[in-house]
Amino acid sequence: MPQPSSARLHEFRIVSNDKIAHGIFSLVIEAPELASAIKPGQFMNFEVPGNAQSLLRIPLSYARANADSGTVEVWYAVVGDGTERLSAMKPNDRSTVLGPGGHGWGVPEGCSRALLVGGGIGVPPLVPLAEQLHRAGIPFDVCLGARSADALVGLSELDALGAERIEIATDDGTEGRCGFVTEPAAELLAAGGYDYVATCGPGVMMQKVAEAAAAAGAYCEASLERMMSCGFGACSTCNVETTEGMKGACMCGPVFDASKVVVW
Ligand SMILES: Cc1cc2nc3c(=O)[nH]c(=O)nc-3n(C[C@H](O)[C@H](O)[C@H](O)COP(=O)(O)OP(=O)(O)OC[C@H]3O[C@@H](n4cnc5c(N)ncnc54)[C@H](O)[C@@H]3O)c2cc1C
Ligand code: FES
Repeated sequence: MPQPSSARLHEFRIVSNDKIAHGIFSLVIEAPELASAIKPGQFMNFEVPGNAQSLLRIPLSYARANADSGTVEVWYAVVGDGTERLSAMKPNDRSTVLGPGGHGWGVPEGCSRALLVGGGIGVPPLVPLAEQLHRAGIPFDVCLGARSADALVGLSELDALGAERIEIATDDGTEGRCGFVTEPAAELLAAGGYDYVATCGPGVMMQKVAEAAAAAGAYCEASLERMMSCGFGACSTCNVETTEGMKGACMCGPVFDASKVVVW
């Protein structure tokens, strides 16, 4: 059973909103209570003003939160009307955000080594997880994938957080190896030594990572993206088919035990 949502409505002020890669922006907001409350893997639902026809909020994971400065940072790709309007917002603009939503990563007790696998704009939720692992003294490696070098995010941040090994794959070979990130991930998993795998990115990528993790006997979690209308368990638009039935990604996810996901 999902727990009652911990999400609350917060007003925020934009600190910065800058392009960091091809079609990808970093948005830093000032929202002190949210910055203190949010946990790795949780998400927020942003109200983006400017279109009276659109009442839907935009769900985004967070990449960094700083309780001291009261700020939360998200990295988002501009893919449609809402994210286009978000990218036009300026420092000191204000709006509201609902969060923190869902539950985050569940690093197993006694984890000795972790592998983080991110593709495209799936990388952001892996950054606070890396920080959590770093603080806990759990060594981790990272596999990062993107269409091309100019769309790669998170490399310097994950390196600074102590990733021992970082494998990069791009579709066009402009950075790292040419191909899908599932290839280095499968190689590392086959070599062994991991007891926890966390992945976020396109569904087909996460499914392949989950299969390689299962073959290697490592517990794997995946952060799934679904359309979300309400963000707090009232509408069922975010359902994920699992071996235990339909589960709403906004309340029972967005992080799921990968072995229980039926439809990616
Ligand atoms: C829990 C969660 C965390 C997310 N974290 C991030 C993040 O950190 N960074 C990021 O860039 N994006 C993230 N997304 C995806 C982001 O919410 C969508 O890209 C965004 O809502 C698109 O809004 P839009 O109005 O610009 O596009 P629209 O015009 O609504 O749609 C454009 C395209 O995006 C697809 N889309 C719309 N909403 C979603 C959605 N909720 N999930 C997946 N695809 C969608 C549509 O099917 C369409 O193909 C996350 C989604 C979820 C559910
Ligand atoms: S978004 Fe409405 S139930 Fe999940």
